[in-house]
Amino acid sequence: MKKILITGGAGFIGSHVIRLFVNKYPEYHIFNLDALTYAGNLANLEDVAQAKNYTFVKGDITDETFINELFEKNQFDGVIHLAAESHVDRSIHDPMAFVKTNVIGTVTLLNASRKLFAQKQKENKSFLFYHVSTDEVYGSLHNENEFFVETTAYDPQSPYSASKASSDHFVRAYQNTYKMPVVVSNCSNNYGSHHFPEKLIPLCIQNIRMGKPLPIYGKGENVRDWLFVIDHARAIDVIFHKGKIGETYNIGGINEWKNIDLVRLLCDIMDKKLGNEIGTSQKLITFVTDRAGHDLRYAIDATKLRTELGWEPSVTFEQGLEKTVDWYLHNQIWLDNVTSGAYQEYYEKQYS
Ligand code: NAD
Ligand code: DAU
Repeated sequence: MKKILITGGAGFIGSHVIRLFVNKYPEYHIFNLDALTYAGNLANLEDVAQAKNYTFVKGDITDETFINELFEKNQFDGVIHLAAESHVDRSIHDPMAFVKTNVIGTVTLLNASRKLFAQKQKENKSFLFYHVSTDEVYGSLHNENEFFVETTAYDPQSPYSASKASSDHFVRAYQNTYKMPVVVSNCSNNYGSHHFPEKLIPLCIQNIRMGKPLPIYGKGENVRDWLFVIDHARAIDVIFHKGKIGETYNIGGINEWKNIDLVRLLCDIMDKKLGNEIGTSQKLITFVTDRAGHDLRYAIDATKLRTELGWEPSVTFEQGLEKTVDWYLHNQIWLDNVTSGAYQEYYEKQYS
C-alpha cells in the first residue's frame, strides 16, 4: 500500500483533495498533516474520517524534529503539499506568519523529503514531492490579451505571493541541486464548499444571509479567474499521477470575472434561493478602501495541462456557483461554527 502525505488537508482545497484520494484510491493510505490553524477544520472531512485508508496527524510543518520523525516512521511514497497561510489581507498585516509557514515550513518538508528520497533511491523505489502553488506568483496583468503561462517570469506583489514564490523557487532548487523528483502547479482562484468565509465568495454568501454589507475593495474592477475547487482537486490527481517530473502546470478555468460583476451575480442567485425580490441583496454592496497593492488581474492559460494531460473542468461557472450556494445554504451550522470559532474549541479539546 502506497503511503501519501497530504499537508493542509483540513483546509479548503486540501479537504477536497483528501476526499478525492481517500475515495478513489483504496490502495493508498492517505495521511493528512495539518496544524489546525484558524483555517483548518476537521468538520470538512467528517465523511472520510473513519475510512480505513485515512489517518489524521496534527502537527506543524515548521517543527523540524516532528517532521523528521514523521517521515522516518512512515516512509511516504509521495507528498502533496498544500499547507500554507493563504489569505492576502492577513499577509499584509502579518507577513512573518507567511514566511514561517510558506517558506520555512516548505523547506522543512523538502529537507525531510530529501533524506527520504536518498533512502528510496538506494532501495530502487520512487518518490515525488508535489508542491501546490498559486497564479499570484506571476504578479498582476494589465493588458487584456495577456495570460499567465508556465514560463511567465515571477513577479509577486504581496507578502503572500512573495512567500509562495519563494517556496516555489526552493522546490525547483531541490530538483536541480539534489535531483529530487518534484512537480509544481500554479492555480487560479478557487471557489466551492468548505471555503473559509474571509475570502470573497463565502464572505458575500454569509453576509447576504445575515443582511450585512458586502465590502467591495476599490471600485470592484479587479479581475480574478475562478475555478471550481473539485476541478482543482481533479487536476492535482492528474498531475500527481501523470505529470512529468520537474515540470510546472498552470491550472485555471478560463473564467474571468470583475469582482463587482461576480458579486452582483451572486446576489441574484442568493435572492432567487432565498425567495427575495431580485435586487434586494445588491443593495448590500458597499465600496470600501482598496486592498494595499491590489493586483489588477489574474488570468491563467491552462493549455499545457489540457493538451498534455487531458484535464478539463467538469462544470461551468454557473453550475459550480449554484452548487456552492446550495452547499452553504444546506450547511448553515458549518458556516455559523466557523464564524463563531466554535469548531476550533471542539477540535482543540480532541487533539491537544
Ligand atoms: P486554507 O487556508 O483554506 O488551508 C490551509 C490549511 O493549511 C489549513 O488547514 C491550515 O490549518 C493548514 N496549515 C496552515 N499552516 C500550517 C502549518 N504551519 N503546519 C501545518 N498545517 C498548516 O488554504 P487553501 O485555500 O485551501 O489553499 C491551499 C493551498 O493551495 C495553499 O498552498 C494555497 O497557496 C494554494 N492555492 C490556493 C488557491 C485558492 O484560491 N484558495 C488557489 C491557488 C493555490
Ligand atoms: O489566485 C489564487 C489566490 O486566490 C490564492 O492563491 C489565494 O490563497 C486565495 O486567497 C485567492 O486570493 P485573492 O486575494 O484573489 O482572493 P480573495 O477572495 O481574498 O479576493 C478575491 C478578490 O476580491 C480580490 O480582488 C480582492 C477582492 N475582495 C476580497 C475580499 C475578501 C473584495 O473586494 N472584498 C473582500 O472583502
